[in-house]
Amino acid sequence: ALTPILNGLNIMITAGPTREAIDPVRYISNHSSGKMGFALAKAAQLLGAKVTLVAGPVSLPTPQNVVRHNVESAQEMLEVVHNDIAEQHIFIACAAVADYKLDNISEQKMKKQGDNLQLCLSQNPDILKSVAFLDKPPFTVGFAAETQDVESYAKSKLEKKKLNMIAANDVSNSDLGFNSDRNALIVLSKDSVISLEPKSKYLLALELLKLVKTEFNNR
Ligand code: PMT
Repeated sequence: ALTPILNGLNIMITAGPTREAIDPVRYISNHSSGKMGFALAKAAQLLGAKVTLVAGPVSLPTPQNVVRHNVESAQEMLEVVHNDIAEQHIFIACAAVADYKLDNISEQKMKKQGDNLQLCLSQNPDILKSVAFLDKPPFTVGFAAETQDVESYAKSKLEKKKLNMIAANDVSNSDLGFNSDRNALIVLSKDSVISLEPKSKYLLALELLKLVKTEFNNR
C-alpha cells in the first residue's frame, strides 16, 4: 500500500503534445504519447492528491478519480491551466507544448502550390513560465526534453523559468522518453541533483513525486 504523502494537496499536471493547426486537416505536433504525464496523474492520485490533468490529444484512458480537461493547441492549454491554477498547490508541466504556431490558420484545406511551401510561425506562449511568474505561483515542476548536455540545459531552464524543480530526460534514446513505457530522469532543484534510473513511467512518477513532496515541504 502507498503512504498518502500528498493528502490535502491539489496538483495540476499537463500531459501529451499540443497540435497547432495548419488548415482543417493538417497540423504541427510531436511524438509525445502522454504516458509520462498520465503516469504522474495516476501516481499523484494514489498518493492522495486531488489531481487535475490537462491533456493534449492522446489516446489514453483517464486514471481513476482524476479530473481531465482535453485541449488541442498550446493557447487552449494555457487558458484551461489558468482557469484552475489559483487552487493548485503544485503544478507539474509534463506536456510537450509546440514551441511555435501558425501565424495564419487556413480556413480551407490548402491546395498544393508548387515545389516549395513556406509556413510562417510565431512563438507560442510558455505555459509553465506564465504559471511560475504569477504573483502567487504554486510550487512549479518543469520537465526538460533534451538530446544533449541534459543537465546543463535543464539547469538553465530551471533558472530562466524560475521553477522550484525540473525533471530532465534524454530524448535521444528511443527506449526511453517519448512514447516508450520507460523513462529515466535527472531531477534538479536549486541545490540538488538526483538521478532516477530507468524504470516504468509509473514507478518513476512515484519516485519523482516523493522528491517533489520533500522539496515542497522545505520550500
Ligand atoms: O508523453 P510521453 O510519450 O510519455 O513522453 C514524455 C516526455 C518526453 C514528453 C516528457 O517526459 C517531457 O520531457 N516533457 C516535456 C517536453 C518539453 O516540451 O520539454 P521542453 O524542454 O521543450 O520544455 C520545458 C518545459 O516547459 C516543459 O515542462 C514544458 O511542458 C514547458 N513548456 C514548454 C513550452 C511551452 N510553450 N510551454 C510550456 O509549458
